[in-house]
This record gives sequence, structure tokens and C-alpha cells, in this order.
Amino acid sequence: MGKDVIVACDFDSMEKTLAFLDRFEGQVRKPFVKIGMELYYAEGPQIVREIKARGHKIFLDLKLHDIPNQVKKAMAVLSRMDVDICNVHAAGTVRMMEAALEGLTRPDGSRPLLIAVTQLTSTDQEAMEKDLWIEKPIDEVVMHYAKNARKAGLDGVVCSPLEAGKVHEACGADFLTVTPGVRFADGNTDDQKRVMTPAEAKKTGSDYIVVGRPITAAEDPVAAYQRCCDEFIG
Ligand code: C5P
Repeated sequence: MGKDVIVACDFDSMEKTLAFLDRFEGQVRKPFVKIGMELYYAEGPQIVREIKARGHKIFLDLKLHDIPNQVKKAMAVLSRMDVDICNVHAAGTVRMMEAALEGLTRPDGSRPLLIAVTQLTSTDQEAMEKDLWIEKPIDEVVMHYAKNARKAGLDGVVCSPLEAGKVHEACGADFLTVTPGVRFADGNTDDQKRVMTPAEAKKTGSDYIVVGRPITAAEDPVAAYQRCCDEFIG
């Protein structure tokens, strides 16, 4: 898979999600769709099947983190739904990530891409030290977790576009960087703190950008999506 724009469909129902995707009917490029916890817990596997049947690729963003055996079995179930990307928390350990990969691999050897969340961007240095008792600089922790994901055989990480270059340096050019926190130069940043434009994210080497509100809340979502693709993919 090459560079792509993933649209975060952060809606709370199938009805709203499908109404949003209806706007893209007839377009040459079908958006790669991210389904998060809210939508998946509201609608279950059926939402994945519906969106897949409409011809979209799917990043199922459920961020699994449990004992290796549970994660392995849960991944086997997700794999049967034919999603394209799914993810785990790197904090679950290398062994848990290996188990996830094993569970995800189908009998014919094929599998969805598997990426890891390093440290959530909502976790800052202070919370990491005070709550988690991790006393290293946060950027070192992020890079260590990315290397663990690589060691476990995963395909990449979710990270800030600001970290994409460093991740590629440490883990290889083929190790995927999937980056949220993207905003148009003339747009609202919402609650995102450290943002980059799609064009900047392209320069830092992001492989996939995850874009939610700049597209879902736009007056013309199709035009906003197209603008993202033009800036990021070219
Ligand atoms: O609307 P917005 O573009 O901010 O949406 C970004 C999406 O990426 C949301 O679904 C959010 O949960 C997700 N995300 C993020 N930061 C992370 C990981 C995921 O914004 N570190």
C-alpha cells in the first residue's frame, strides 16, 4: 500500500456514518476509513461489513491491550472481518504484539497490517512519570516502543507526523508511520496541540495521515478530502 489519507469516521451510529460516506458515492477515489471504539462498540462487526461492502479500505482502531492469549484470539476474529489495518498498544509488551500478529495471520498466510500505538499523544511527560512511573524522556520512550513493535514483526506505528522521520530512521523506511494531528493551514486546530498540514506531513515522510474533523465537519467533505489527497499524495 502506498501513501493514503485515512478518514476518521468518529460518528456514534451506522446511520450517520453511512450518510457521510454516501456523499462520496460516484467519486473515483473511495476514502480509506478509520473506525474507532465509539462506532465499533455502538454497531459491532456489521459496521465493518457494511463499509467494506461499499468498497472502502478499513483501519479498525481498537487499540488492543490484554494478556497475549486474549489478544491473539481477538485478533483472529478481527482478521476474519477482512479489515486492512488494525492496532494494539505497544505497552502490552513484545510478547503481546507477537501474539497479536500470530492471531491475525489467516490460514493462507495473509493478514491485515498491524501497527502499534506508542504513547498516546494525550499522555505527556508529567503523566508518564507520575502515573506510569516511567522516568525516561517521552521521545525516547516513543522510539523504544516503536523499536519493540519492529522487533515483534509489526508493520508500523501510530505517531505524530513530527516523529515520522525519526521512526523511519530507527526502524527502516518500510516501517509504516500512520499520523493523526493533521490540519489545513487555514483551518481550525480543534483540540489537537501539535499539528501539521497534509503537505508538511508528506515532507516528514508520513505514510498515512489520519484526518477527522477537517473532513467530517467540513461544509463540503468531498472537497476537503480531495484537498487532503492533493496536498498529501500529489
Ligand atoms: O478530528 P481529528 O482529525 O482530530 O481526528 C483524529 C483522529 O485520530 C481521531 O480519531 C483520534 O482519536 C485519532 N488519534 C489522534 N491522536 C492519536 C491517536 C489517534 O488524534 N495519538
